Formats: sequence, structure tokens, C-alpha cells
Amino acid sequence: MNNNRELLVEVKNLKTYFFLDEGTVRAVDGAEFTIHRGETLGVVGESGCGKSVTARSILNIVPKPGKTVEGQILYHRQIKGRTEVIDLTKLAPQSDEMRSIRGAEIAMVFQEPMTSLSPVHTIGNQIMEAIQLHQGLDKAAARELAIEMLKLVGMPLPDRIVDQYAHQLSGGMRQRAMIAMALSCHPSLLIADEPTTALDVTTEAQILKLMRHLQDELGMAIMYITHNLGVVAQMTENVVVMYMGKVVEQADVDTLFYQPLHPYTQALLQSIPRLGQKTREKRRLASIRGMVPDPYALPQGCTFHPRCSVMIPGVCNVEEPAMLEVAPGHKVRCHVCAGAKA
Ligand SMILES: Nc1ncnc2c1ncn2[C@@H]1O[C@H](COP(=O)(O)OP(=O)(O)O)[C@@H](O)[C@H]1O
Ligand SMILES: [Mg+2]
Repeated sequence: MNNNRELLVEVKNLKTYFFLDEGTVRAVDGAEFTIHRGETLGVVGESGCGKSVTARSILNIVPKPGKTVEGQILYHRQIKGRTEVIDLTKLAPQSDEMRSIRGAEIAMVFQEPMTSLSPVHTIGNQIMEAIQLHQGLDKAAARELAIEMLKLVGMPLPDRIVDQYAHQLSGGMRQRAMIAMALSCHPSLLIADEPTTALDVTTEAQILKLMRHLQDELGMAIMYITHNLGVVAQMTENVVVMYMGKVVEQADVDTLFYQPLHPYTQALLQSIPRLGQKTREKRRLASIRGMVPDPYALPQGCTFHPRCSVMIPGVCNVEEPAMLEVAPGHKVRCHVCAGAKA
């Protein structure tokens, strides 16, 4: 998978758990994948499978009582023409080094911009704060750059919006403001966590187009999290499919769509809504039989086996399948389908 490109982030055996009174939620439970410089990686899977917690683990902003308990997140940082490899799981969340990476080199756009935009600071001041923190520009220069960024993301009347507050903007404009803020420091990785899910179809299409355009322009890598495979087809080059905190299949986007191996991926594909269709939630759930298991009590063996139509009793419900590379860049974690292809 893109072996000719430089590594940017390697997630290895990542485990992030929530320790609650009721028990331990193994939100991310051995996730593994790689992001290369300039690549768009799609991360898909049903709600609750650990996509957001994986993203938060990379940024080292997992809320309590959550904690990354195992694994590595190797960030290949470029400093003065050299590459330095840093394990982000080893940095304290509020350490200077983590803060210099978070927001500046790895930035994130969330599903609901209102939760990450401040209600009491103007859009401009929030972008300027990010710029001043990471780039050491003075106030006037930071304001100029903030207006530039708003222009870049297609904000109408950027020199007026810069002095407005989040609640004065529409959903689509808030999402543009979030993207402007995220991109203001030219991150090498933008993590977009369902950035269009809360938007109407037309605005969604505009934001997707904008992100593709910005990636061409700025050359950053994007980790694009979504439960919508229609969006994946439009936006990404490579895809990882997550189920219950693990990556169960990984391939380039064409292979994933035309030769999916894992029964879970196949089920997700059968549920593809047309882009922007608002009944996506219902259709998605109707077409995959069974329920996502209780996160406190994950099934033994392959976590998908209770819902799987090809599961082999005595194998799939007993032993956890390993991730196997069945073709260059195509990996799958399944006793049945990995064997069939190999
Ligand atoms: N702050 C939290 N406290 C407790 N459990 C959480 C918290 N955040 C996420 N989880 C649990 O972790 C699992 C993965 O969640 P998440 O990564 O948000 O899923 P996704 O983004 O794929 O929908 C879910 O079972 C969810 O309930
Ligand atoms: Mg999520």
C-alpha cells in the first residue's frame, strides 16, 4: 500500500480502554495501520467500533477514564530536513512536545463543530490563537492569515466572518471555520472525524469537494473517518475497516470495493447508501444482521463471529484470527476468507 511514499504515522497494536465502574470498555483493542505522507486513508466501520477513540489516541486527547494501555503511535516528524520518529503514546498529553504536534502538525476536524469552537471568542480570534501559538506571528499578521485561511476554505465575506461568533454561522460555515482553523498551521496530517455527518446533502458535497481541493493544494495526509462508504469511495485512496476496536480489513479503495474479503466489509458494502442519502442510518443497520456486541463483553474468537454468515463453529468462536496479507497491501483478519484467498 503506497510503499513508495514516506511513512507518516504507524499505529501498532493500539489499545485504548475506558475503565468504568461497570467494567472495562475495550474501545480500541489492537488496531494497526499506517498513514503515508500525502495519503488519504479512510477509516470505516459502524458506530461504536472505535474510530473516534483511535483518532483521539493519535492526538493524545482521550478523555478520562480512558487511557492508551498498550501499543505505539510512531509519528515520523520532519525537523530541519531530518526525520525523527516519536512514539506519541509515550508523551504526556500536556507536554510541550505533544502540544507542539497537536494542532500544528496533526490537526483534527470534528463532526460537531459547536463542541470544538468556542462560543465566547470570535472565529478570527480562535484561528489567530492557533496561528500565534504555533507560528509566532504577531497579531496583525495572524489576523491577515486568518482571513486568508477563511478565503481558502471558501467562506463568504471572510473579512466580516472573522469578527463573528460560531453561533452566528450556519452548520456548513462552522465546519468551514473548523477546517480553516485546522489547516492554519499546515498540518502534515488532518484527521477528519465524520466532518459532514451533521450537514445537509448539498453542504456535505461542498465540504467534501473543498477537502479534496485543499489536499491537492497543501499536500497533507488525511485520515478520513466515516461510517459512509459512499464518502470513502469519493475521498480516499486506502481504507481500513474497523470492527470492535480492531482493523479487520485493509486495502486500496478499488480492491476494497471490488474484492472485499471480510464478511463484515461485504455486509457494509451491501448497505452503501447513495451519497448524502439521509436514511443511511436505517439502511446500514438493516442490512447487517445482529447487533454490535456489548462492549463490556466482547465475544471470544473473532469478535464478528456472532453476526457472521460464514463462521466455522469450533474455529471462529474459539480462536482470534490474525491479520494476514493476502495480496500486496491487502490484509484481512478472518479465518475463513483469508484461507480462501491464500
Ligand atoms: N468517554 C467515553 N467513556 C466511556 N466509553 C467511551 C467513551 N468514548 C467512547 N467510548 C466507548 O468506546 C467505544 C468506541 O467509541 P468510538 O470510538 O466513539 O466509536 P466510533 O467513533 O467508531 O463510533 C464505544 O463502545 C464507546 O461507547
Ligand atoms: Mg465517532
